[in-house]
Amino acid sequence: MDADGDPTRAADVDPAAVLADGGRPDWYRDAVVYSLDVKTFQDSDGDGWGDFRGLIDRLDYLEELGVDCLWIRPFYPSPLRDNGYDVADYRGVDDRVGSLDAFDALVEELDERGIRLITDLVLNHTSTEHEWFQRAREDPESKYHDYYLWTSHVEQAYNTSNIFPEYEDGVWSYDEVADKHYFHQFYNHQPDLNVANPDVQEELFSIAEFWLERGVDGFRIDAAHPMVLPKGHNAHRLDDPQWLFRELKRRARAVKDDAVLLAEADDEPDRLDFYFAGGEGFDALFNFVGNSHVTYGVGVGDTWPLYRMFEQIPDAQPNGHVWWANFLRNHDEWNLLKLPHEALEHAREEFREGHGDGRDSWIFGRGHRLRLADLYDGDHDRIAMAHSLLLSLPGTPILFSGDEIGMHADLDLPERQAVRTPMRWDGDEPNAGFSTAAPEELVLPVDGTGWPGVYQADAAGQRGVEGSLFERVADATAARAASPEVARGDCSIVHVDPKEVWAHRFDHDGTTLLAVHNFADEPREVVADVDVAPDAVERVLGASDYDLVDDGVRVTLGGCDYLWLRGERR
Ligand code: GLC
Repeated sequence: MDADGDPTRAADVDPAAVLADGGRPDWYRDAVVYSLDVKTFQDSDGDGWGDFRGLIDRLDYLEELGVDCLWIRPFYPSPLRDNGYDVADYRGVDDRVGSLDAFDALVEELDERGIRLITDLVLNHTSTEHEWFQRAREDPESKYHDYYLWTSHVEQAYNTSNIFPEYEDGVWSYDEVADKHYFHQFYNHQPDLNVANPDVQEELFSIAEFWLERGVDGFRIDAAHPMVLPKGHNAHRLDDPQWLFRELKRRARAVKDDAVLLAEADDEPDRLDFYFAGGEGFDALFNFVGNSHVTYGVGVGDTWPLYRMFEQIPDAQPNGHVWWANFLRNHDEWNLLKLPHEALEHAREEFREGHGDGRDSWIFGRGHRLRLADLYDGDHDRIAMAHSLLLSLPGTPILFSGDEIGMHADLDLPERQAVRTPMRWDGDEPNAGFSTAAPEELVLPVDGTGWPGVYQADAAGQRGVEGSLFERVADATAARAASPEVARGDCSIVHVDPKEVWAHRFDHDGTTLLAVHNFADEPREVVADVDVAPDAVERVLGASDYDLVDDGVRVTLGGCDYLWLRGERR
């Protein structure tokens, strides 16, 4: 991105400091990221598939919401047996969503608006339809054969459980053409790449370079954890797994000096530091521990899960190498495996009947295929509070498309498609404004049922409507943009009574930012022990009453209310 189109929008960020702290780009720490799938966002040509032109037409909406960066999910040519995470060509665009030209047009438009762009890079596996795999299976002498992991003696080969245990017995499948078994940690149509092979490594680095040269600002590295797990017949591990990440970063930064690498590494808490490689690896990791604990804590009205989250994960610090990409929900199932056993069991039963109509939302033995609005009973106050909390936590907030208007899951659809239905723009228009195609031609049905008896969310009914969920989320993103303390301050927990209220603070340059969130449905009053000068307290977000008392700030919160205050430290 050139200097003119400098995208560092957060008001208090010095553009000259984009590359701060020994070469680490800072923009992503201040950004609000919005995650979307181009094919379900907006159809511009009436073929039933969302496309790049449609997305461009909707950028005003994203600006209004206060988005600084888009993360777009895979748009590459793909048989779409795993929603595009089965890539058939890393350098192309699925022609149903556009073309490379349309992609370039998006980059240009985002550049003008100062919005960054992150794309998904799926480096752990390809689709079986990828040319590499086709050549690999046809010719054992071809260099592509060693791009994958094969065995002729499957009984003796290393085996482990598959990531989709409901569908796959293990990690080997037989290929008739090769007359061998190939290794896959995900679906059988997603053969793992042999990432220990230097030719494969070179291919992966050059794919990253290709997209950076086309203007992307970084990547979400899909399945970073499975990349470094034991693989193949002999359970081979990379000699130096961190080298792969370091080198990917070095190659990326050589093309774009503020490119960021965000990893999907859903590993055990004590293994997470590994992925940062002391600052030379990933810039940020998706906070899966945080996701299960925060979304559960808010859902059950209790703050202990937040204490536990902070105990479990390495600290995100303003000048440190640890940084989180925080999220409330994503496009997969709501994965609960990081919760302690009892809480997991509780969450499994508590939320199982997403829509209260007997349909089961539990999947893969680990999570619910539900959206936030389903988990929180369609309660917009709770959804808004959860977003305020998300935006105030140390890390980069990632919003999941549709949650900002309270869209529901459609449990009539199989698997994770339930949470991936097209954006509902305007309930009064055909297909809720997503497309003019006949309903049976849509990439996925537009959800029209929603929670029985509950308002069916759309964007049109909320934009510009004071107090709507959309406007409250937009207020919270604006508060975040006006609060450089979150990315630059020291974060600490402020212990308050009662336990349904969560408070934390950031200290930065003589100011304290205090954020207080009431998880209860009823009003609560707390005193936060924060020492600020009485004449210099400023309300940043929320309408709750507060006053300064001898032992700190007393805050009176209505049910699900929240308040951010900034004060000068005494
Ligand atoms: C990630 C994606 C998920 C996909 C998997 C395999 O976990 O979020 O949707 O199925 O990787 O690529």
